[in-house]
Amino acid sequence: MFRTHNLSELNIDHIDATVILSGFVNRRRDHGGLIFIDLRDRYGLTQIVFDPSDFADAHKLAESLRGEYVIRVEGKVRKRPDGMSNSKLPTGEIEVLISDLKILSEAQTPPFEIDSDDVVNEELRLKYRYLDLRRSKLQKNLIMRHNVIKRIRDFLSDRQFLEIETPVLIKGTPEGSREYMVPSRLYPGSYFVLPQSPQQLKQLLMVAGMDKYFQIARCFRDEDLRGDRQPEFTQLDLEMSFVTDKDVIELNSELVQSLLTEYRPDLKQPDAIPHMTYDHCMNTYGSDKPDLRFDLPFADATEIFQNSGFQAFASVVANGGIVKVLKVPAIAEQFSRKVISELEDVAKIYKAKGMAYIIKSGSELKSPILKFMSEDEISALVDLVKLENGDILFFAADEFDIACNSLGAVRLEVGKRFDLIDETQAALLWVTEFPMFEKNDDGSVQACHHPFTSPMMEDVHLLDSDPHKCRSIGYDIVLNGSEIGGGSQRIHDAALQSKVFDLLNISKEDADKRFGHILNAFSYGVPPHAGIAWGLDRFVMILCGEPNIREVIAFPKDSKAKDLMLQAPSEPDMNTLKELRIKNY
Ligand code: AMO
Ligand code: AMP
Repeated sequence: MFRTHNLSELNIDHIDATVILSGFVNRRRDHGGLIFIDLRDRYGLTQIVFDPSDFADAHKLAESLRGEYVIRVEGKVRKRPDGMSNSKLPTGEIEVLISDLKILSEAQTPPFEIDSDDVVNEELRLKYRYLDLRRSKLQKNLIMRHNVIKRIRDFLSDRQFLEIETPVLIKGTPEGSREYMVPSRLYPGSYFVLPQSPQQLKQLLMVAGMDKYFQIARCFRDEDLRGDRQPEFTQLDLEMSFVTDKDVIELNSELVQSLLTEYRPDLKQPDAIPHMTYDHCMNTYGSDKPDLRFDLPFADATEIFQNSGFQAFASVVANGGIVKVLKVPAIAEQFSRKVISELEDVAKIYKAKGMAYIIKSGSELKSPILKFMSEDEISALVDLVKLENGDILFFAADEFDIACNSLGAVRLEVGKRFDLIDETQAALLWVTEFPMFEKNDDGSVQACHHPFTSPMMEDVHLLDSDPHKCRSIGYDIVLNGSEIGGGSQRIHDAALQSKVFDLLNISKEDADKRFGHILNAFSYGVPPHAGIAWGLDRFVMILCGEPNIREVIAFPKDSKAKDLMLQAPSEPDMNTLKELRIKNY
């Protein structure tokens, strides 16, 4: 037997009990003949003592113990001497006097300290992830992840959802990112594709009459990585038949709110999750996932600059662009020239041409653009934003997307730099009425969500006349400025689906080749259906208060999509390539 108790269990109720414990040596301290060791497992720490005057053999062997050795000990629980207890540990009032020690496994000195909060180089942490995972913070994160997933499974099972696995070797799904491919040995020259999401399969499960499906599903996307993206990530994926968007939103609101209540009771949540249209979000916060833990809404100053002497702005307006203004109240004195220029650099990342500003200091206005503006324009602007002493205004004049996105990025940066974000809030938001289509940089058109997303019924006529104005029944759920999930009501009408493919420039042959299975399936009777997928890693990351998605994934890829521990991807040997009939370019 390796243990009678784990390392968080023993307390004063166990005094005088004989126990067997196993674990890792966390720390060793030698004190005047006595050797103290904090023994560690996933559950906690227990102090064990070796005393040469009681058990000389065990004490002698204990002298050879080093950090991270794996040991088994037998001994008797005793109360720690007065003044020596540690109120931070559940086992802090006792220690175990050891009569027998077995070394189960010796350990090299680890490349970083396990029992320390010191920041360790991430490359090293990922290379030795199995040691990194011994640290209590990561263990806590994985426990949170487990608990959240279990609660989701219970919540959905209680509501008649079935958890159904879908394959990982499939054909491409049109989620919009580059796909990972797996060469087929049996069909040389042919490839499987790893799913970007189980989108089509879950729709086929609705055709199959499964009615309510969910899955904790692994998804694969070969895209540029960021702090909240991994090439391989996990979704809570779900789909429901005979429902509308409202039902999906209602169910998921209840689920997300119950998870936050359970796991982050310290965070204030809205009683009911607010809804905002995509248009409103972009116009007001310059983002389709606004962080509502601080306000700072934009005003629209397009009209004021219509005939302005400030040519840079007037010409933008004449060309159909807009002028957005962001007011940061009361702290203008904290915006030095350097800060303003750094914020302008942020705007420029999002293609802004510049970032004009106006400061109100006492009764005076200061700005390089005032000299180009008329008295009327200035007073209209002061009225529009209710400019007060100490306020600073930032301007973005450009086509709609650039003006909104660049000023949105400035809003976020100001929020972070000047501590305007209320960290005690869980700011949830549903964003609705997305556009059906978006233009890529190369002018091509793609679905804003995916090609199976239904247009809003009142906008269907726009598919013929002005498709870019057509809104979809797509919805995203946002938490603290992060898109934690997205879904839609699906098209279940073959004619409408063909029209959407047409608009996406997917030819009939192409549609048949890529999505023939689903179009065919839909010809056998399909219930109206809708669904959503949550980025589970992202959600757990926020619950854990972590800044990076890697902190909640046991074995993540690094920021360059590599697995540093496994050294993957790696080059296959020539024979494997030959068998797959792949030439190594
Ligand atoms: P979507 O593509 O919006 O929708 O993905 C759903 C959610 O998954 C998360 N996510 C990611 N998380 C980590 N790393 C990534 N690379 C990554 N990409 C996306 C986001 C996102 O909101 N099939 C549809 C859902 C549906 O319509 O039901 C889909 O996959 O949090
Ligand atoms: P200029 O007269 O070009 O030096 O511009 C005066 C100020 O307006 C500078 O602070 C620029 O950064 C700013 N500016 C110029 N073009 C734009 C624009 N499209 N949007 C916002 N600010 C701009």
